[in-house]
Amino acid sequence: MRINKLVLCYSCAILSVSQSQILTKFSSCLNEEGQCEKRKIAIIGGGIGGTSCAYWLRKSAGDSIEIDLYNYGKIGGRIAVVEVNGKFYEAGASILHPDNLYMKNWAEEFGYKKRDSPDDRMGIYNGVEFVFEESSWSFVNYAKIFWRYGLDPFRLNSHIKDMLSKFSKIYQLQDSGKAFETMPELITAMSDEFSKQLNLTFRPFLKEEKGFHERFIDELAAAVINCNYGQACEEVNAFVGSVGLAGAVPNLWAVNGGNFQIPQMLAEKSNSNIISAKVNHITINPDGKYTVQATDSNNNLFNSTNHYDAVVLALPLISNDLSLTIDGVDLAPHSGTYQKLIATFVRGKPRAKTFGKEDDHLPDSILVSETRLLIKSLGKNFDVNWTKSSPEHDNVYKIFSTQSIEEAQLKELFEEIKEKHEVHWFAYPKYKFDGVSKSTSFKIADGIYHVNAIEWAASAMEMSAIGGRNVALLLLKDFDVQ
Ligand SMILES: Cc1cc2nc3c(=O)[nH]c(=O)nc-3n(C[C@H](O)[C@H](O)[C@H](O)COP(=O)(O)OP(=O)(O)OC[C@H]3O[C@@H](n4cnc5c(N)ncnc54)[C@H](O)[C@@H]3O)c2cc1C
Ligand SMILES: *[C@@H]1O[C@H](CO)[C@@H](O)[C@H](O)[C@H]1NC(C)=O
Ligand SMILES: *[C@@H]1O[C@H](CO)[C@@H](O)[C@H](O)[C@H]1NC(C)=O
Ligand SMILES: *[C@@H]1O[C@H](CO)[C@@H](O)[C@H](O)[C@H]1NC(C)=O
Repeated sequence: MRINKLVLCYSCAILSVSQSQILTKFSSCLNEEGQCEKRKIAIIGGGIGGTSCAYWLRKSAGDSIEIDLYNYGKIGGRIAVVEVNGKFYEAGASILHPDNLYMKNWAEEFGYKKRDSPDDRMGIYNGVEFVFEESSWSFVNYAKIFWRYGLDPFRLNSHIKDMLSKFSKIYQLQDSGKAFETMPELITAMSDEFSKQLNLTFRPFLKEEKGFHERFIDELAAAVINCNYGQACEEVNAFVGSVGLAGAVPNLWAVNGGNFQIPQMLAEKSNSNIISAKVNHITINPDGKYTVQATDSNNNLFNSTNHYDAVVLALPLISNDLSLTIDGVDLAPHSGTYQKLIATFVRGKPRAKTFGKEDDHLPDSILVSETRLLIKSLGKNFDVNWTKSSPEHDNVYKIFSTQSIEEAQLKELFEEIKEKHEVHWFAYPKYKFDGVSKSTSFKIADGIYHVNAIEWAASAMEMSAIGGRNVALLLLKDFDVQ
């Protein structure tokens, strides 16, 4: 058996423990030469979850630990840009809510500005026609919204406000050092209401619990969830549904120059050794420590020279794409199906007629409420350095779809195509309950942690940032530092 309680070196064994306890703790980190060895941690995955975990670990444990951060591809993972015609566009996670406190504080701490947001007009397309279109005049908008959806948009605002105020409790809990073993425990600690939302699909929640009308659910909620999670209100849980709808309120923001800069800076600040490699296997050694087997960028297989005291998996365990194995640990109960999503970038001009419009005045952002349609959304895109004073729009559009868009289909959608780029993702969990109860534990086995358990509540940058901090707290608790 492995020793469960690992102990850190004296430099951080600062705790309010009795003298005799301290002595045993000290002696247990001494090696044969009588020197205190640093605890070694491997984090696998350099997205916002892994870099957040590394950042908080370093912040709490200082020099007493050594962190190796294994990442495949660019730091940032699902926060990434794509280059179109010499400019960069968000290809993955693009929008943040003003109440996403960690992301907001980091942006401020690292000196990043908020990107200007364009005044674009949104429209909801149901496969036949636009059932709702914003106007460029805000007072006309209020009238239109009220006319179509009655008081539901106001009901939405108060639901989101209420949810976010409950959600904000997680920040106090984490600041006070509280760590959770499982995702439902973490979510429930914010509010009992949330635990119910995890077990309820979104449509009955909106309709029966919150009193929203069918039209609002079928059009606005359906379109937003289809665009944000590529799924239907009948499929997602009420918690992720509400998180998705929070992405439909005003004052959303993004990091000027690209959101990826935040995980990049977190990785840098965490002072981790960044190892560009894909981890294939984790071996448990006779001494109870872990060795990581990985393939580097030149396709060479290697074993880590470090033996780790703990391993953090900061990556989605995708049952339809699972390539990681761990000695004696079955990862299947911790994995799940992820939604494939393709972001297609087109420089050109959309064909208004295809959307039933005779004139050229297509809304800038088209959200599709009919989930069976090929496309989930189609919108004008602005590059990561865009400002209100930038000259004109570069005619770059982003389409979300769950399948590749074929040439003929693209020609139907665009009357002019100058260039096209596709970015393929396993984007977020498929939330539809499949009858198998998933293990959503932050701790998979002794010394092995999983940040992305949190994604099964809701997938978002801030959620992974919170998951990363939770795992840092949990790990340090197990190491007995706190
Ligand atoms: C198209 C799209 C749009 C989105 N829009 C938004 C949005 O507007 N707002 C929002 O908040 N969220 C959005 N999200 C969700 C958000 O991107 C994710 O929830 C979040 O970025 C997940 O971060 P993560 O660190 O948990 O995972 P990831 O970003 O997936 O990081 C995992 C990292 O691990 C690496 N990795 C995987 N396997 C291995 C291995 N075996 N060895 C080594 N490294 C490995 C990966 O390459 C990756 O770098 C969107 C996602 C997508 C795909
Ligand atoms: C969800 O329901 C299952 C049983 O259907 C129950 O075991 C579980 O505790 C519930 N989860 C939450 C968070 O309430
Ligand atoms: C725009 O953003 C990219 C990507 O973040 C950055 O590398 C580049 O320096 C920026 N360019 C300008 C002109 O600001
Ligand atoms: C890595 O270690 C394992 C287990 O000790 C061994 O079987 C394997 O051959 C090693 N691989 C490499 C590339 O050294």
